[in-house]
Amino acid sequence: MFLGESLPIGSGVTIPINHSHHLDAELKEIVSVKYADYRYAMDVCRSDLVRNILRFAPTEGNHKRILVDIKVHDLKRGEFTCVPGWHLDGSNNPQNLDKRPEIHHLFVASRFALTEFMDMPLDISIDPSWTFAERSKKLGKLLDEMDIPVFTIPNGRYVTYDDSFFHRGKQATGDEIRLLVRVTETDVIEPQNKIYVPYTHQSTLWG
Ligand SMILES: [Fe+2]
Repeated sequence: MFLGESLPIGSGVTIPINHSHHLDAELKEIVSVKYADYRYAMDVCRSDLVRNILRFAPTEGNHKRILVDIKVHDLKRGEFTCVPGWHLDGSNNPQNLDKRPEIHHLFVASRFALTEFMDMPLDISIDPSWTFAERSKKLGKLLDEMDIPVFTIPNGRYVTYDDSFFHRGKQATGDEIRLLVRVTETDVIEPQNKIYVPYTHQSTLWG
């Protein structure tokens, strides 16, 4: 089976992100969510910038629902925004529901921690008894030990990928407020309409 047969596809739309103290102040106001309904995310995010980013999401509209992650991290040099290491984004589907693979549209505004994708297809046999999470974990571990070519996503532009693209968060090379917006098209992931607090949350910043 081939995984990540092509590069993640860029949407071609660049939303200008001018990194500055002014932008940082704006980013600190943003409310984060994880797998929230599109409409809920638009309502609670408290940011015209994020609403604009969401409007430009290159969704295809072939799945049952569209869910949104918004994550603002107060990132210090050396920190990660997610669990380190190669992994896949997708769902386990324990009830074996009829589903298409999730499609993700990822937008990151960052100077120091842009997500990295594997820059080559991976031809590997997959044990059919593995759950999706096992596939991600076992193959990800294998990739962690390999020196493989890497594609770094652009700052301020969507990239689109599905559940076969291995990627990893990058260890931040500087301090910054980083914004991630990810729009997921899914048949099985359920919405969670509640506010999410990233682990780098600081009460002094977000109150
Ligand atoms: Fe991921």
